[in-house]
Amino acid sequence: MSARPWWQTGVFYQVYPRSLQDSNGDGVGDLPGITSRLDYLAGLGVETLWLSPIFRSPMADFGYDVSDYEDIDPLFGTLADFDALLAEAHRRGLRVILDFVPNHTSTAHRWFQEARQSRDNPKRDWYIWADPKPDGSPPNNWLSYFGGPAWTFDAATGQFYLNNFDPSQADLNWRNPAVKQAMFDALRFWLRRGVDGFRVDVIAAMLKDPALRDNPLDPNWKPGDNPIWRVRRVYSEQAPGIHELIAEMRAVIDEFPDRMMVGEIPYTTDPALQVSFFGTQDKPEAHQPFNFAFIMLPWTAPVVRDFIARYNAAVPAWGWPTYVLGNHDQDRLVTRIGAEQARVAALFLLTVRGAPYIWQGEELGLPNGEVAPEDFQDPQGINLGISRDLCRTPFHWNGGPNTGFTTGKPWLPIASTYRTLNVEAEDVDPRSSLTLYRRLLALRRAHPALHEGTMTLLETPLPVIAWLREQGDERFLTLLNLSDEAHLVSHSTLGSGEIVLSTALDREGMADLASITLRPNEGVLVKLG
Ligand code: GLC
Repeated sequence: MSARPWWQTGVFYQVYPRSLQDSNGDGVGDLPGITSRLDYLAGLGVETLWLSPIFRSPMADFGYDVSDYEDIDPLFGTLADFDALLAEAHRRGLRVILDFVPNHTSTAHRWFQEARQSRDNPKRDWYIWADPKPDGSPPNNWLSYFGGPAWTFDAATGQFYLNNFDPSQADLNWRNPAVKQAMFDALRFWLRRGVDGFRVDVIAAMLKDPALRDNPLDPNWKPGDNPIWRVRRVYSEQAPGIHELIAEMRAVIDEFPDRMMVGEIPYTTDPALQVSFFGTQDKPEAHQPFNFAFIMLPWTAPVVRDFIARYNAAVPAWGWPTYVLGNHDQDRLVTRIGAEQARVAALFLLTVRGAPYIWQGEELGLPNGEVAPEDFQDPQGINLGISRDLCRTPFHWNGGPNTGFTTGKPWLPIASTYRTLNVEAEDVDPRSSLTLYRRLLALRRAHPALHEGTMTLLETPLPVIAWLREQGDERFLTLLNLSDEAHLVSHSTLGSGEIVLSTALDREGMADLASITLRPNEGVLVKLG
């Protein structure tokens, strides 16, 4: 039995419900589809599934625009389908966390429909409204993450409402106690149904400056850069009080035993900002604040090593790191760092000290899919040309029609790589990415040193990174070559050990650590005697 809770020792796997498995031929993945694939996910060796939003939604932002927090969207199935999924997952020892979207609702939500009726509607103050400037322009210079102003004019009542994302995603007013209560009750609704926790969307954005002051312009922004970064979001999110509010949300989670929440905090490479969202031991906030540093930083040995050192030093003793290499908003790992280094990154992710998050399809070594601009579905892609559709194309099950994902027309085109990169083909290939992930996940699960041990970064000439994981009398050494040249590594004090895995999956056996050569783009995991 581990002394640490499940959300620290286990591996998380993000399911994008639209793209995992379609069960009814409408071209969109659904809950019965996920249930039918639970054996695959359990067999992979992950412990917790995070489902991107499955609540009722007009799907303007593919579920991140919720119109009813206490129901399942018919596209995905029914509450009964959800209960079945949860029971079947639990039966296989898998946990399930849902994606909670507190910052905004869809404008189709009945709360917003009421709020927009009139300025004195009781629900008016559930959202953030402001008068136009005298010239009729928006109340301030805040910008939406999806392009254009963060304000939409409501002609009927003569005011603007705030939308930090799509105009159909209206920001809630979390300073209104009635909003808090309704949203916290939605959390309780799912916790009572048995979910194991939540991933909380843009958690730090829930509070904005009550005076709605202009954001400062970013002095580093130049014409041609992405227009959404023209301003620094100083006042439109993370306003004072945000930590207290997250702590209140945490207290709701803690009303139920053994549940957790992971917060989508800002994308930052500043460990101090990241760990501020743990809160304090007396007043905890997120069980896990996401660490997105390795989505942002260049994948080079000095940078990677330096960040790990600073992050390990910043995470409080009662907290636990997280590592994220991909999700539904980012280019896929293989596209960012190449297929060879993606295997090194898998060894990194699954042996570093912290809770790993695997994005659906990363285990197959998938690069981005191919979606023509005229077929973009993602509102961000349509407005800004940077489409998240590329990482969201359907999962690859086999080399047959529509890769086994659907019998209908898939909602996004199947990537051309499906012929070779798919579960059926990789399952029988002893060197495939899927085999690598399965082996790594099995090793990680079998050895407490790997899932809960201490971590010591070793001094190694770059571009090799090395660390030890230790627990009881178990010791593992991870060696990662982040370059495409061979490197001789010498750790004479470590004696000899047994290579239990190479990312090339072609060598095992005893190794003398006084002189071990890492081939180009190779990582090895060594069990020390
Ligand atoms: C988060 C989600 C993203 C969504 C946005 C608005 O960043 O990950 O997919 O578009 O919030 O809800």
